[in-house]
Amino acid sequence: MPSERRLSLWTTVSSRTSPSAGQRRHRIRWASQLHSKSMFEAVDHLGIATDDLEAAVRTYVEGFGLREIHREVVSEQGARTVVIECGDTHLELLAPLGPDTPVGRFLARKGPGLHHVAYRVDDLDAALEAVTASGIERIDREPRRGIMNSRVAFLHPRSTGGVLTELVEPASEHVR
Ligand code: CO
Repeated sequence: MPSERRLSLWTTVSSRTSPSAGQRRHRIRWASQLHSKSMFEAVDHLGIATDDLEAAVRTYVEGFGLREIHREVVSEQGARTVVIECGDTHLELLAPLGPDTPVGRFLARKGPGLHHVAYRVDDLDAALEAVTASGIERIDREPRRGIMNSRVAFLHPRSTGGVLTELVEPASEHVR
């Protein structure tokens, strides 16, 4: 039986049960390896830079009817953040802690708007090794702490077609 067919049968059978989060992660990993060997599991979030965090929150919560699920100051990235849930993914609203921070410099250069695209990976070290081997340039030599105790690393937009790209390995206790 071709592997495509096997996968769709397997997906049908497994959807009748309720797998735990761990089983689901394992199955997603298995399925994505079967398909494409991609280490990028999903778009984890979109980062949106703003100089007025509460106005941005109002746009997404009152304007779009989405839900705020988390707030955090991420001093490692020089930003105050609010996380907005949207289906399986989320939006990370970012306001700079000062002008001399990555988001502060971004706002001065480009104004508010889409700041970065973040992909969820299962193993950040392996993913970084793989993208670096393919010639993509890192901003972060070593992974750093991201929001909700995740480990993150940024890739340079000059090697990714102008899109600041973040890789996120969620904290293991963080259940989605
Ligand atoms: Co981010």
